[in-house]
Amino acid sequence: MTEVKMTVNGKPASGAVEGRTLLASFLRENLSLTGTHIGCDTSQCGACVVHVNGEAVKACTMLAVEADGAEVKTIESMANPDGSLTVIQQAFQDHHGLQCGFCTPGMIMSASALLKDNPKPTEAEVRHYLDGNICRCTGYHNIVKAIMAASGQDVSALAAE
Ligand code: FES
Ligand code: FES
Repeated sequence: MTEVKMTVNGKPASGAVEGRTLLASFLRENLSLTGTHIGCDTSQCGACVVHVNGEAVKACTMLAVEADGAEVKTIESMANPDGSLTVIQQAFQDHHGLQCGFCTPGMIMSASALLKDNPKPTEAEVRHYLDGNICRCTGYHNIVKAIMAASGQDVSALAAE
């Protein structure tokens, strides 16, 4: 076992892990941060997206030992300090960007990374960026619409479900 230390959602976190322990498993099982979902374990679905040192990363593609010393943010840190929803979260609610919600943590983490780098993305850019995030419920239109709305753009002409 190896001791790892990192900052998770602004607080120091540590634990003993095996070399094969995924970051996603460390977050869920050692830290009880179960908002990071595991949908495939094979880098396809994007349900496990977190931010590592400011970059969107699929937490099932990274070993916990590789995140040693890193700054990690999970969906649990997304709400505003007073507990209210952020603009992106509110836009998902307003535009029905979720149904079962399983993909939603990963979608929100990917969307926030996209809007940080590209504050006014085109619809095509949003769709391209979400290529690694699978949703089995919504058909994606409302997710794209929510992200466009969160960027402050007029979404009245965009397709909806
Ligand atoms: S659980 Fe990581 S991509 Fe599916
Ligand atoms: S809302 Fe169910 S998987 Fe996306």
